[in-house]
Amino acid sequence: MKKSTLIVIGCLISVFAFQAFTTRHQPEWKNLKILPQDISKDGLDSVMHQFTASLGVKCNYCHAGNPAEHRMDFASDEKPEKQIARKMMLMSIDINKNHFQQMADMMKKDDDKMAVSTDTAAVSYMLKYVTCYTCHHGEAHPKNKPPMMNHMPPPPPPAPAQNNQ
Ligand code: HEC
Ligand code: HEC
Repeated sequence: MKKSTLIVIGCLISVFAFQAFTTRHQPEWKNLKILPQDISKDGLDSVMHQFTASLGVKCNYCHAGNPAEHRMDFASDEKPEKQIARKMMLMSIDINKNHFQQMADMMKKDDDKMAVSTDTAAVSYMLKYVTCYTCHHGEAHPKNKPPMMNHMPPPPPPAPAQNNQ
């Protein structure tokens, strides 16, 4: 066989090998309990970046590292923050699905411009009307008092019970 033929065959093999590698883009997630198992990499990335931006944290706020291998272990549930985040995900899905979506249906509007593009209904509910950012506003510990409350007089004592029967 001529050298040029060999080069052509070599090129074809690498093109096919490259294609086989890149078209197998469905990632294998190891430990998803809320997000769908078949969520795409882009979908998962967009959810995770929503989390970091909403809480003003980095990935390692929720994810543990694997010191032996000097890399992150994203599937590990070692950090309590990750477990809390799962509860927060379920809470956000519930708030949106069972409260805000019904309101939108009553008003006959579906405010899709508030939805972040992700793969499934469950995930898009999580990031619809009330999102992590609605409460967190860039902080891990959202404030629960308006700032002016610190300067306001305490509320009056409750009125005595009326006995007019
Ligand atoms: C606020 C907490 C939080 C932050 C911050 C966060 N994640 Fe996650 N991440 C989670 C939770 C919770 C899950 C599991 C979701 C589930 O169970 O469906 C997860 C799952 C993952 C997974 C899937 C692992 C597997 O195979 O099961 C990857 C990959 C991942 N995150 C990457 C990232 C990256 C990269 C960042 C930073 C850009 C990041 N995460 C930031 C909470 C977080
Ligand atoms: C309805 C308001 C609300 C929404 C929506 C919300 N959170 Fe929270 N989150 C809180 C409050 C309140 C706390 C308790 C903060 C504290 O302990 O100071 C908290 C705590 C947390 C914590 C633990 C922080 C720590 O270090 O103790 C994580 C992680 C978290 N939220 C992630 C999320 C993620 C991710 C989302 C979106 C899926 C989300 N939250 C949506 C109100 C909310």
